[in-house]
Amino acid sequence: MIPEHSLDPADWDELRALGHRMVDDVLDYLATVRSRPAWRSVPVDVRARLAEPLPLEPTPPEAVYEQFKRDVLPYPTGNVHPRFWGWVIGTGTPLAMLADMLASGMNSQVAEFDDAAALVENRVIAWFVELFGLPAGTSGLLVSGGSMANFVGLAVARNARAGFDVRTQGVGAPGTPRLIVYASSETHSSVRKAVQLLGLGDESLRLISVGADYRIDVAALRTAIAADRTAGHRPVCIVGNAGTVNTGATDDLVGLAALCRAEGLWFHVDGAFGALACLSPALRPLVAGMERADSLAFDLHKWMYLPYEVGCTLVRDQVAHRATFTVTPSYLAALDRGISAGGFPFAERGMQLSRGFRALKVWMALKAYGIHAFARLIEQNVAQARYLADLVTAQPRLELLAPVPLNVVCLRYVAPGFAGARLDVLNREILMRIQEAGVAVPSHTVLDGRFALRVAITNHRSRREDFDLFVRTVVEIGDALAGD
Ligand SMILES: Cc1ncc(COP(=O)(O)O)c(C=O)c1O
Repeated sequence: MIPEHSLDPADWDELRALGHRMVDDVLDYLATVRSRPAWRSVPVDVRARLAEPLPLEPTPPEAVYEQFKRDVLPYPTGNVHPRFWGWVIGTGTPLAMLADMLASGMNSQVAEFDDAAALVENRVIAWFVELFGLPAGTSGLLVSGGSMANFVGLAVARNARAGFDVRTQGVGAPGTPRLIVYASSETHSSVRKAVQLLGLGDESLRLISVGADYRIDVAALRTAIAADRTAGHRPVCIVGNAGTVNTGATDDLVGLAALCRAEGLWFHVDGAFGALACLSPALRPLVAGMERADSLAFDLHKWMYLPYEVGCTLVRDQVAHRATFTVTPSYLAALDRGISAGGFPFAERGMQLSRGFRALKVWMALKAYGIHAFARLIEQNVAQARYLADLVTAQPRLELLAPVPLNVVCLRYVAPGFAGARLDVLNREILMRIQEAGVAVPSHTVLDGRFALRVAITNHRSRREDFDLFVRTVVEIGDALAGD
């Protein structure tokens, strides 16, 4: 007889011992993260070791794990570190990490089956619907992140407001108008990607100017809508920002909601991180109007501090949501009883059919920490942004480059004799040196043509002293470079 194989261990106790070591090691790693550099580049010899040939024969799991500890674990992106403030990248939590392990153990396929994972995801979505003040019955889906969350919202927007059957005819069919989406010039690139992938093309995306506060100019938006109607185009959607990626600005969401209603447009809000401000009663007024969105995209791996990847889209009109994504071949049709009865049709709310149990880490974290803990941390990050802004303002060698309404601070080093492109080059060098020194990881952007060091705080490990050290280091490096 031909022997039959499996990937289960020959000796479960051996794997159990290894698993216990892994858990101990990774918890130690997280507990001591502050003592390591915020980031370091992968050394040449490690890169060479990782460029391995295809493994045809087995290596003992202990040996693979030892290589992981030597060649992989020491060189992370760095966002677990208290001084990582680049882009908008969250920290992760030890408990949610363990939840991911449990979810992998169950290995649920959360498409549309009658299983507990679907109930957990459904509950998590209902909690966010309640938190954000959307009506009960609002539909939702956990996705890989903000980009996919924007894509799902904009896909529903396009189909619901096109005025013709996009699913059958496609966009650009003869006799159909060009569909137009509006957003501020500060809107995240994922919205542009979504507009492109939805077949609308860049020529269908109107990027409206912003004021000095980086919020959309609503009057200019009104004018653009009127001009498009006159030209025979069909405006379909306005995207409002709750926390822009560059500066954390939030558009006038109340005004945008009213304009959408008056114009019959879909109101999509990109609240990738800013939406979470709503958890704090003190910060909630900043994102007022968000609850009037037709669709809302937000991330849980940013300002909910959960490990990658997890974001969410909420869609007020569950019929429109499902109508955008349902395609039910016979092999996926629900039956009256059995596993394909009574589940929630998550696969009919987005692009993915096969989906993992991302909801478990969200559910466990929300229950174990409680919403108030997240609200306090979000408030703490906003207070830290203000603290940093004050340090910058008080330091003659630093300049604040934008208002700080939320958790993002844009600054640069200034020195006599440096201006324009020379100052940009100097600040670019400061940024690279501070990252390479492993002191901190801010990122960069360009504001009104000026290169900015950008600190986005979605980090539950940061302390005020971390911002003191950051400011001291920027000034030290800047002074040394400017003096050269
Ligand atoms: C405002 C905003 N929208 C969308 C995104 C995209 O989210 P993700 O990186 O989770 O796809 C980001 C990411 O930083 C963002 O800041």
